[in-house]
Amino acid sequence: MQHAKLKEFPEGFLWGAASAAYQVEGAWDADGKGPSVWDSFCKQPGATFLGSNGDVAVDHYHRFREDVALMAEMGLKAYRFSVSWPRIYPTGRGTPNEAGLAFYETLIDALLEHHIAPVLTLYHWDLPQSLQDEYGGWEDRRIIADFENYCITLFGRFAGKVKCWVSLNEQNYNLTNAYQLGTHPPAVQNRQRFFAANHIAFLANAQAIAAFRHYVPDGLIGPSFAYSPAYPASCRPIDLLACENAEEFTNHWWLDTYCLGRYPQAALAHLRETGEAPEILPGDLDLLRQGIPDFIGVNYYQSLTYADNPPGGQTLQRINTTGIKGSTPASGIPGLYQTAPNPHLETTNWDWNIDPTGLRIGLRRLASRYGLPIMITENGLGEYDRLEADDRIHDDYRIDYLKGHLIACQQAIGDGVELLGYCAWSFTDLLSWLNGYQKRYGFVYIDRDEHDAKDLRRIRKDSFYWYRTVIANHGTEF
Ligand code: BG6
Repeated sequence: MQHAKLKEFPEGFLWGAASAAYQVEGAWDADGKGPSVWDSFCKQPGATFLGSNGDVAVDHYHRFREDVALMAEMGLKAYRFSVSWPRIYPTGRGTPNEAGLAFYETLIDALLEHHIAPVLTLYHWDLPQSLQDEYGGWEDRRIIADFENYCITLFGRFAGKVKCWVSLNEQNYNLTNAYQLGTHPPAVQNRQRFFAANHIAFLANAQAIAAFRHYVPDGLIGPSFAYSPAYPASCRPIDLLACENAEEFTNHWWLDTYCLGRYPQAALAHLRETGEAPEILPGDLDLLRQGIPDFIGVNYYQSLTYADNPPGGQTLQRINTTGIKGSTPASGIPGLYQTAPNPHLETTNWDWNIDPTGLRIGLRRLASRYGLPIMITENGLGEYDRLEADDRIHDDYRIDYLKGHLIACQQAIGDGVELLGYCAWSFTDLLSWLNGYQKRYGFVYIDRDEHDAKDLRRIRKDSFYWYRTVIANHGTEF
């Protein structure tokens, strides 16, 4: 589909950037905060890249005013951040920690003062360690009430100030790592436990959205989903079937459940055959239907290509956490699908495909299938950056990446997609969960590395100035 002229970005389009609490805040035990599962996990030898952790991160907790001033200078219209559950409830429930609430309130007020819309993520993986210890976190239905209680505390406090909310961030990616690959806490490798925990997370997500309707009736809420549209490796029918399997198991499994309130049929039938299907109790499907979101949050980094994978074939593998290009093996589920290289795409140093058209394809697929508005809640390029002697960072590769993806957004808008906003990942550099500080995403460079927190100085990259201009002209020129 060619458009003779690209449509303009809609009025009120949220030109944004994003972050997450554990990746930026630091202050891991300040002002009454309890430990999260990531505070514990990162301390286990070999768990993360060179043992990097978020104890200090980029010290946003103490430097948020400086960061907000930079956002204002950039002209940002929205800032997506997450609240750390154990900062609000140090042990997951009980009496809320006023200092934690006050921190976020001050941050939100500072954003509003600069006319930057806060986009608040309720959960970006930092589960209170106490709930993991007490009942196994996402593996126990008690978490549904605890998560709802935590969310209601935030709804009650911030309803008048925050209009746009994200419920669970990348439930798909986080729980796949946590219960299939064993690379996020609690580092389990068991598919049955994975599907069971994932089902409980769906219920918690729906329960929180149902409560939201009552507490924030004029707000918008949706989950953010790690979305990689699937391509077939060839036109061999078995590759197309593998691609369909991948769509069903890696995308529809979550998106259908969020947006339609039911699991996709073929995948559910398969899991019933293998004995891995989650237990669906009476009332579960009703609850899922009460949790239909207002928008779909899309975290898009890459498309993935799939080929047939016979029984006994390729099994899941760890993702590239080394930054050594070309070191990622194929990954798959025997009998269903395996990933294949796409010879038509360039890749990053972490072997992520660079594919702006994939974003357009994905946005169209979602808009047609679910009929909901979409917000890009993350999109960006993780790369090595070099701080030059004159304190400049010439990240033209990042500008190219973002430019390509913004054009794809504009094309998708022309295709009829209702796009509410675009939050680049990320505003400042931050901790990449498994890749330390060397895989950088920010518009603002942070002077630190894995070994040394240095002075944590904030330095504007070339992309900072570029995005400032794009926002100023409302995307009429890139
Ligand atoms: C998403 C997460 O998975 O992608 C972010 O929501 C994360 O928290 C981002 O940082 C980039 O991933 P990575 O592994 O390169 O840091």
